[in-house]
Amino acid sequence: MNIELSEKLKSFKPFLFEELYRKERAERAKGKDIISLAVGDPDLPTAGPIVDCAVREVRKGANHRYPNTKGNENLRGEISAWHKRRHGLSFHPGEEVSILIGSKEGIAHLPFVVMNPGDYCLIPDPTYPTYRTGVVLSGGRIHDVPLEEKNGFLPDLGKLPRKVVEKTKLFFLNYPNNPTGADATLDFYKDLVKWAKKNGVVIAQDAAYCDIYFGKPAPSLLQVPGARDVAVEFYSSSKTYCMAGWRIGWVVGNSKLVCALNKLKENIDSGPFNAIQNAVAFGLKHHEKIVPPIRAHFKARADRFCSALEAAGWRFKRPGGSCFVWARPPVDCTSIDAVYFMLEKAAILTAPGSGFGKYGEGFVRFSLTEPDAKLAQAVRRLKALDWSALK
Ligand SMILES: Cc1ncc(COP(=O)(O)O)c(C=O)c1O
Repeated sequence: MNIELSEKLKSFKPFLFEELYRKERAERAKGKDIISLAVGDPDLPTAGPIVDCAVREVRKGANHRYPNTKGNENLRGEISAWHKRRHGLSFHPGEEVSILIGSKEGIAHLPFVVMNPGDYCLIPDPTYPTYRTGVVLSGGRIHDVPLEEKNGFLPDLGKLPRKVVEKTKLFFLNYPNNPTGADATLDFYKDLVKWAKKNGVVIAQDAAYCDIYFGKPAPSLLQVPGARDVAVEFYSSSKTYCMAGWRIGWVVGNSKLVCALNKLKENIDSGPFNAIQNAVAFGLKHHEKIVPPIRAHFKARADRFCSALEAAGWRFKRPGGSCFVWARPPVDCTSIDAVYFMLEKAAILTAPGSGFGKYGEGFVRFSLTEPDAKLAQAVRRLKALDWSALK
């Protein structure tokens, strides 16, 4: 039988990072000693005490039963307590906090609870690709919002077309930013909240990299007075605690949106394993001990890597946070040409900026989530590259 797949499914391109994993495997199969700086998957192991807590929790029979969709009280309580310590914000654990099976899952589902067919969603360009998923599936329209270097990779709200804004329901952003490494200030968030209220647009700020900051602590959009009327924020344990494989994220903020997302999810999933939720709760409780060494590690890596890239003639602004460096190669060329050139001549796989959107053209994204020795090897190979061969 010829199974005809849905039009929606056909409209999806393969997920950029899965493509990059495939490319890496194919090159390794050819016997190449590939260093992959393409995907942001932290190499540092999850802290020992979190793992020990998980082992204890796995042994508890009560945890073997169904969890509930919005997450258990222990984790929601620790999340509320952490936001209080970090941002001075109180969230009602029952109505303003919901657990996700990784923040990616919640990000993909959020458009279903606010968008009707034909509504617009504003999506940064370049972007983390998952913001598009739920918009496409819910029949919404996407308007790409340029993130330009001259604006510090922040959107220029004054330049958004009025006709689009009138039909816009949702705006996704993420700071510290993937892929550009840019950070946002509370002043920018104040303008954004004012703009969102004026235009009746829901803001979804993705704070996946909120703990990988290199200067002042990254602010929360929800620190802006009244932001909770229009906004939710997504958080992730993946980078903060190096727990990408454990799959826990959460959403906080506007209770109507949080509860609506939870209602949708109750019809889809049953929440993550309670043992893992409790391990993340342990991480949050001991956050101030566990996270600073992780942050310091990423910062030291970024400092070393950026100095080497500068010496090798790359053009870029040093990241304010995240685990990425977003840079233009020493010679003018397309992102894809640069990526293939490095792959062929230096066996280094990177992510092409154009894969994140058309405003990413000309850039390459380096992900600093490989062990230090590998990064040092990558630096040696990059320094030895003769870019004149590409001209
Ligand atoms: C900007 C951004 N948001 C969300 C995610 C997804 O994180 P999680 O592992 O919590 O699903 C990622 C993962 O790379 C990301 O880069």
